[in-house]
Amino acid sequence: MEFLVKQAPLDSIKTDCLVLTIDSSGKFNSKLRNFDKKANGLLGKVLRRNNIQGNVGETLFFQDVPGVSADRVLLVGLGDPTSVTLKSYRKLVSSVAKQARDHKINSFTCDLLDIPPRGSQMLQRKVDAIVNILYSQNYTFTEQKNYSKKDFLGFKKITLISSPSASRTSIRHLIRRFMGINQGINLAKNLANRSANVCTPKHLATETRKIARKSKKISVTILEKKDMQKLEMGALLAVARGSTEPAKLIVANYKGTGISRKPIVLIGKGVTFDSGGISLKPGSGMDEMKYDMAGAASVLGCIEALSILEPEINVVALIPATENMPDGKAIKPGDIIKSLSGKTVEILNTDAEGRLILCDTLTYCSKFKPECVIDVATLTGACVVALGKHATGMLSNDNGLAGEILEAGEKANDRAWQLPLWEEYRTQLNSPFADIANVGGRSAGTITAAMFLAEFAKPYKWAHLDIAGTAWNSGASKGATGRPVSLLMEFILSRAAKRK
Ligand code: BES
Ligand code: MN
Ligand code: ZN
Repeated sequence: MEFLVKQAPLDSIKTDCLVLTIDSSGKFNSKLRNFDKKANGLLGKVLRRNNIQGNVGETLFFQDVPGVSADRVLLVGLGDPTSVTLKSYRKLVSSVAKQARDHKINSFTCDLLDIPPRGSQMLQRKVDAIVNILYSQNYTFTEQKNYSKKDFLGFKKITLISSPSASRTSIRHLIRRFMGINQGINLAKNLANRSANVCTPKHLATETRKIARKSKKISVTILEKKDMQKLEMGALLAVARGSTEPAKLIVANYKGTGISRKPIVLIGKGVTFDSGGISLKPGSGMDEMKYDMAGAASVLGCIEALSILEPEINVVALIPATENMPDGKAIKPGDIIKSLSGKTVEILNTDAEGRLILCDTLTYCSKFKPECVIDVATLTGACVVALGKHATGMLSNDNGLAGEILEAGEKANDRAWQLPLWEEYRTQLNSPFADIANVGGRSAGTITAAMFLAEFAKPYKWAHLDIAGTAWNSGASKGATGRPVSLLMEFILSRAAKRK
């Protein structure tokens, strides 16, 4: 898909389809009035018949409009022009995309940037919405299918009419930014959607190397079992014991600035299949546990975006990757292991494996002297119960960092919601036989899981994102969402802009 930016009189634009907005005031704005004059008043005639009221997302097609160069005109409602929000704007763009798709229009031109509220912040959100919505409409996952019928070939060429107030170069910069991010989102979706027999820890390592080839600024190191043994990563190795697929700790180092600046460290849970281990999960819906590496996928999605955008910042991605399987060699409930930190852990439930592979990675990451650490994990079913599919759970040991993440999520339409990390919850993890237990009982499951991680994240500013509810959709539209790549990239790029 290609995006172009143009400034030209609306009636002179040659395009398969010209998309214009109409508000709910009952009157045309001056732009539409001028356009309609060229069109012999056809649009006004239809409006008077009241076929379209200009409510948000309402659409009306016009064919063979006289006096204008476009083959078709699509009017889309924007509602009350004084109260357009990010939400209503996205609804409008979605309905344009749906109409275009339904009419098999692959290329169109739209005048959707010159809408109030104006200003550079809003312009950024508008370009974000257009690029993101069209990318996600274009996305399909068919690589493991021989036969898949395609009734729509996807959007090819989208032309944005620039508002007179915004420079075309600044719009082109925004397009580049959001295309890079959505490239990352697509990569995250592909990795997560791929079946677990294909997407193994080894596959994640190979794919990381592939991304790194695109940019000189990325170097990759893979820690193998023997390296982890040398380091004594007892918790990560414990989870891997039940699987015949060798575990990996993948390190991708993005150096966007030569200046010695502490990196942002991203850690992604990479359980490529979570059967529960000896604490076996129930059978129904277990296929969805191929998505238990969605955290890793989103972190690699960010590295992909960084490889394209190359901002001036340093980011280290760490991915502990393994399967969680039952086997004669697998860890058992009651087993006590020694983590890299030296702390011993009583494994009361082998299905609480994510925190085990993450705790060793949290200890290991200190060596990168992080500015801050963010881990991303499909960690608890309890998070789905608490927040559903709309918000990612966020817990942090630093209020400043927490605030920044919430703001990034809000801006990027990829929201997170904070839960507390109060000391009071810690007693739920007490073990009579080890320094800490890996589960904390039925209550506050998302919080006790994060409390477990917090124990290993004391030396630095850290936030944990529980994406169990947001990483994929179930049911008829089953598939990865690519979340929270948008949130993370907003966070990274705004830090890069701040400390130039
Ligand atoms: N990967 C799961 C969490 C999960 C479950 C994510 C369902 C998305 C949907 C995680 O490894 C797990 O099994 N967690 C357990 C923890 C429990 C044993 C304390 C859970 O949530 O049931
Ligand atoms: Mn599990
Ligand atoms: Zn898991």
